[in-house]
Formats: sequence, C-alpha cells, structure tokens
Amino acid sequence: MSRVPLPYSQKILDLFRNPKNLGKMEDATVSAVAGNPACGDMITFYLKINDQDVIEKASFESYGCAANIATSSIVTEKIKGIKLEDAWKISWESIAEEVGGLPAVKFHCGVLAVGALRRAIRVYYKNKQASPEWLPAELTFEEKQALEEEELARVLSKKMKTSEET
Ligand code: FES
Repeated sequence: MSRVPLPYSQKILDLFRNPKNLGKMEDATVSAVAGNPACGDMITFYLKINDQDVIEKASFESYGCAANIATSSIVTEKIKGIKLEDAWKISWESIAEEVGGLPAVKFHCGVLAVGALRRAIRVYYKNKQASPEWLPAELTFEEKQALEEEELARVLSKKMKTSEET
C-alpha cells in the first residue's frame, strides 16, 4: 500500500532536517518526559532556569515525527531568555502557525511540544514547592495530552488489550 506524503511546509521540513537545540542538557535545572497517547511518541524537554525564573537555555530530545521535531525546535528557540510565566502562555496554535501550519492529523504533535514544556515548568515549581498565582491548579489541555511515561505506558497497554479483545 503506497502512502501519500503529508503536506508539510518547507519550514517543517527544514527544521526536521536541521533542528535547533536538539539533545540532552547535562546541566538542566529541570526536565520532563511526555508522551502522546494518540501516536505513542515521546519527547523530553530540558530547561536551564536562573534565580529570576528566566529560561537561560532549552533543549529537547524527540522520538516523534517531523512535525513534533519542528514544533519542539521552535518552542526551544522562543522560550530562550524569557520568564517562565511568558513561556507558559505560548500556545500550540501559535507554534503551528510559525512552522507554516500543521496538517490536521498532526495537531497533536504540536500540542505535545507545548504540553512537555508546561509539564517541565510545573515540575520546576513543584520541586521549589512554589505556586505562582498565574500557574493553574488544574492541568491544562496540553498537559493532559502530554502524558508522563508511566501514564502513557498504562494508556497504551489498555488500548492494546481492548483491541485484542475486539
Ligand atoms: S505522530 Fe507522534 S509526535 Fe507526531
């Protein structure tokens, strides 16, 4: 069966071939692993944060698709040098726009990039035992779509069992 190539923008293809800030960060202040239940792909976000809650650098590792690599790359570039509060406000829609649009079947890949960033920010404040007033108590849509490793394994094995039973 032949597969029709997805209509990726040139920017996505360029970033996929040449991603920025790809790789593990040894001196990260915080990291978060996140996986998407729609496709089973996982990414890790690393942030180096200073005492003023400003992101000094960001990097990522991705086992996701081209859309995920491109959107994660853009996110890491956008958040460098800004406060966590402002990084939190970045939407997956604005990131999708910046990469020249995402095919509808790839929206979740951009959601995963933003969800992983938000998970990392949440972990940072949890470790600090702090809760700034702008940080919502409830998980946002993006965080709910970016599951922690164990949650992801649970959801995927449940999906597999259900499909075996049917
Ligand atoms: S298909 Fe899984 S991250 Fe894109």
